[in-house]
Amino acid sequence: MKVLVTRELPPSTQKFLEEQSLELIQWKKDCAMPRDELLNSVKGVDAIFCLLTDKIDKTLLDAAGPQLKVVSTMSVGFDHLDIDELKARNIQMGYTPDCLTDATADLTILLLLSAARRIKEGIRAAEQGEWREWRPNWLLGTQFSGKTLGVVGLGRIGQAVAHRLKAFGITRILYYGRSRKLQAETDIGAEFSSFDDLLKHSDYITICSALTPETQDMFDYTAFSKMKPTAVFVNTSRGGVVKQDDLVRALEDGKVGAVGLDVCTPEPLPTDHKLYQFSNCIVLPHIGSATLETREKMASMALDNILAVINGQPIPFGI
Ligand code: GLV
Ligand code: GLV
Repeated sequence: MKVLVTRELPPSTQKFLEEQSLELIQWKKDCAMPRDELLNSVKGVDAIFCLLTDKIDKTLLDAAGPQLKVVSTMSVGFDHLDIDELKARNIQMGYTPDCLTDATADLTILLLLSAARRIKEGIRAAEQGEWREWRPNWLLGTQFSGKTLGVVGLGRIGQAVAHRLKAFGITRILYYGRSRKLQAETDIGAEFSSFDDLLKHSDYITICSALTPETQDMFDYTAFSKMKPTAVFVNTSRGGVVKQDDLVRALEDGKVGAVGLDVCTPEPLPTDHKLYQFSNCIVLPHIGSATLETREKMASMALDNILAVINGQPIPFGI
C-alpha cells in the first residue's frame, strides 16, 4: 500500500509510521508541502495523511487516481476537504475529534482572560518602561464573576469552555448553533438563544463552531455593532467565521471591547496587518491544539484511520 504523508509527524507516531510495511512518500521539511509537489506525489497512492493546510479538492483527487481509499486529516476541522467530492468517489474520510478538546478549550480561556485583563498592554508597559508605580486606575480589565458567556457552536470544545468558565464564576451561558444541545443545557445550564440575543446580552463571546457555508462571515460589522461595546470576543475556530475587514472596522469604531484570535484570514497573517496594531487585540498563530500530548494523539488517531482502512477494517474516527 502506498501512503502519502504531507509532513513529519510527532516523534512516537513518526517512529510507529516508519515501522509499518508501507510504501511511504513523506514530505519531511517543516513547511507546507508545495501544491505542485503534492499533485506530483499523490499519483497512485492508496491513502493520504494530510494537515489542515493541505487543500483536498477535485484537482488533487483527479491527480491521485481511482485507487485512493482514504483521506485522513490531522485536525478536528475539515473545511479544507471537499466532502461532496470525496463522498462521490467513495473515499473514506478521517479526522481527530475529542483529543484536542481540552487543549483548545484551555487556549480559548487563555485568550478570554488575556483580552479581558489587557495582557498585551501590560506586557508592553512592563517591557517598555511605562510601569512607574502601582496605580489604582491603571490597566483595568473585567472579570468573569456574575457575567454572561455567549458560545457560538456548543460542541465538544464549546462545552469544555463553558464548563471551565463556570469555575471562574460565569453565571449565565447563552449558546447559538444549528441544533439544540439538551444534554448540555442540563449539564451546564446553557440556554439556547437567537444569534441577536446572544450578541446583545453576552459579556464574553466565543466562537467554537466549524467553518461551514452557514457560519462563513457570520461575524460581520452588523454583528459586532450589536455587541456590548465592552464585550470580549474570541475566535479559536476558523478565521472564515469572521469577516475580518469588518472586525478591523469594529475595533476602530469601538464596537467591541477586546479581541483574542487564534485563527485569522489568511494564515499566517502578514506582520503589517492592522489587527496587530490594536492594543486591545491579541493574535496568536493558530496554536489551539499545540500541546505535546495533543499533537501526538492527533497524529496517532489520523494514522489509525489510515491503517484501519487499508487493512479493510472500519475507520475508527470517520467523518
Ligand atoms: C485545528 O485547527 C484543527 O482543526 O484541528
Ligand atoms: C469540534 O469542533 C468540537 O467542538 O469538538
